[in-house]
Amino acid sequence: MNSFTRPNGREPLDSRQFLNEDCSEVSRQVFTSEELYQLEQRRIFDKSWLYVAHESQLKNPGDFVSAYMGEVPVIVAKGGDGKISVSVNSCPHRGLRVCRADQGNASRFICPYHTWSFKPTGELVGIPQARKMGPEVDKSKWGLKQAAKVESVFGLIFATFNPEMVSLDEYLGEQKFYLEAYFDRFPGGLEIAGPAHKWDLKCNWKLPVENMHGDVGHAAYLHGSFVAVDSPQNIEIEDYAVTAVARDGHAAVFRLMPEDSTFEQRGVHSPHSSPELQEYLTEVERTVAERLSPVQARIKGMAQGIYPNMSLLWGQNTLRVSHPRAPGLIEYWSWLLLPADAPDNLKEEIRAGYCMAFGPGGILEQEDSYAWRLQYEGSAIDYLNDRPYFYGLGVGEEKAHPELPGMVGKCYNEHYARRLYMRWREDMFGEENV
Ligand code: FES
Ligand code: FE
Repeated sequence: MNSFTRPNGREPLDSRQFLNEDCSEVSRQVFTSEELYQLEQRRIFDKSWLYVAHESQLKNPGDFVSAYMGEVPVIVAKGGDGKISVSVNSCPHRGLRVCRADQGNASRFICPYHTWSFKPTGELVGIPQARKMGPEVDKSKWGLKQAAKVESVFGLIFATFNPEMVSLDEYLGEQKFYLEAYFDRFPGGLEIAGPAHKWDLKCNWKLPVENMHGDVGHAAYLHGSFVAVDSPQNIEIEDYAVTAVARDGHAAVFRLMPEDSTFEQRGVHSPHSSPELQEYLTEVERTVAERLSPVQARIKGMAQGIYPNMSLLWGQNTLRVSHPRAPGLIEYWSWLLLPADAPDNLKEEIRAGYCMAFGPGGILEQEDSYAWRLQYEGSAIDYLNDRPYFYGLGVGEEKAHPELPGMVGKCYNEHYARRLYMRWREDMFGEENV
């Protein structure tokens, strides 16, 4: 076993203090160190593509949503020209948030301190006091600062502060195959329903991310009252689930149903779903070949994660972002995703199912949140600094797949997490220090 040392703030950080070579051992400090947390803000959140909104939330000019890029509050808005802008939500006069609403439609944001006014896309349009003063202020210089780049894929809008960042297309790489299998599955696409559930959680931001990237190993155990080990659902998962890493840092886990499986078997619904919802989802599967490749059509019930902090859970129709606030604190945001063309009564049934399982009052969310809090507390025990965590399940079992992009392993293979921490190491320490 490696012995990992605690950073003392005097020596330069070295990745070998925190991870062994294949990332099958990960130091507890990765989840608790204040020094690493501060570095993550600069080396990951200031540089990566970050999910900020879904196009279904921004249908008309003036529509906006508030979001975060790491710790930085931003406004995502649709301009009169239909272009999406991402502006830092901080007044150029003295720094207050000019927008204090979650979402809506506006012609102007008015800062509460001295009432400078801004278009939703960030341009400064009014300084009340300037009318009585001279010389004239050049308003074009004093708008809200814009993200360096904004791009979208499958309706998902991402932004980055990094002008040098590669295109979103390149950043996602073959992960797009897995995003497409979910977002292009439904004839009318997917839409976000309502504002996000938001709540604080006492854990490190990477813990929910890692879980959603592919932790099938907890499902029938931590959530045993919901998915019993010997339930047909869990037996199907153990038989057919695979974890796929198309690019380090991103991951997907799903059942790859056999070629001779029926459309009824491929539909993602619970035994408690109404016959009408089951039939709707079966119909989606019957027509999915019109929209997706044959192998994408066999994908069922996927969780996936986009580096660094976005997660998707198809089975429970949720999209979430883990916003960092401190080494042991996150603001967790969770949205409900709905098939846009589903009848209203089925949307309501899906919404009720999501609320029962996820969101701050959901039974699965409660269980996951409790686990992540205990995981954080366990990580903070100094006496255990020489005891890294074991991430070695399935080392070397994953391999290239004839039909699926990336490296693919069996359902309990932890390569999705090892590759996540390899990407984290690359961003935090540079490849030369790996
Ligand atoms: Fe915004 Fe003064 S701080 S107008
Ligand atoms: Fe869970």
